Amino acid sequence: MNILITGSNRGIGLEVAKQLGERGNRVFITARNESDRLKTVEVLNNIGINCRGFLLDLSSMESIDTFISSFDEDIDVLINNAGVHLKGSPSNMEKTVLMDSFGVNIMGPWYLTSRLIPKLSKSKNPKIINVTSGAGAITSQHHSPIPFSAYRITKLAINEYTKMLSKELPSWKINAVCPGWVRTRMGGENANSTVEEGADTITWLVEENQETGNFYRFRRVIPW
Ligand SMILES: NC(=O)c1ccc[n+]([C@@H]2O[C@H](COP(=O)([O-])OP(=O)(O)OC[C@H]3O[C@@H](n4cnc5c(N)ncnc54)[C@H](OP(=O)(O)O)[C@@H]3O)[C@@H](O)[C@H]2O)c1
Repeated sequence: MNILITGSNRGIGLEVAKQLGERGNRVFITARNESDRLKTVEVLNNIGINCRGFLLDLSSMESIDTFISSFDEDIDVLINNAGVHLKGSPSNMEKTVLMDSFGVNIMGPWYLTSRLIPKLSKSKNPKIINVTSGAGAITSQHHSPIPFSAYRITKLAINEYTKMLSKELPSWKINAVCPGWVRTRMGGENANSTVEEGADTITWLVEENQETGNFYRFRRVIPW
């Protein structure tokens, strides 16, 4: 399979690229700057993975348009993994936090996905996996910390987007994944899952034909 993974120069995205690449898939990674793009491709090539790297900043519609015009590959799977987790409460919010959170966590993936639908349509078994979070589950909105309100709302939005898209394209496999609390720069060193465990449900959904329109964590369906 040909698989595009956003935000894959580090963290869960890089581990997903490794796991899928090691199983013989062709992976396309994205990074925001040239040095990360080159370094990531080198790391993956050095372990025998068939990979290409592209520049993409999801907070910029212009960057998404530039990426689309340079992306000359067909894909079977799109993994919307890139994300930001920024502080700001409902009553005390910086403009940049709102712009970045909505840009990277929902507007960018939405626009990117819509531009990639024609390529995905050519696949025999197209899949879209949105890496979201339990913090965006409507059933847990009253329990997660208020300082990350923009994160929660944008992950709630991409969960809803996942459901809507899966209804619009019912023959595709379109799902959301919460990776758990994972030891990455975002999750911090006290998180209880390794990056390998965080990537596992995402790679499992790529390789297995599960139902569409669900929200998964640790290979199980969880409530939206
Ligand atoms: N870690 C957790 O505990 C946890 C829990 C629940 C959900 N998640 C979700 O899992 C996904 C991956 O998280 P992670 O823990 O691997 O985070 P991470 O280590 O912070 O990595 C985030 C990735 O997103 C990229 N990114 C950030 N801003 C971007 C932008 N404007 N355009 C394109 N790429 C951008 C980063 O690139 P740069 O290196 O250029 O910044 C990096 O590659 C996220 O969607 C996150 O919300 C994580």
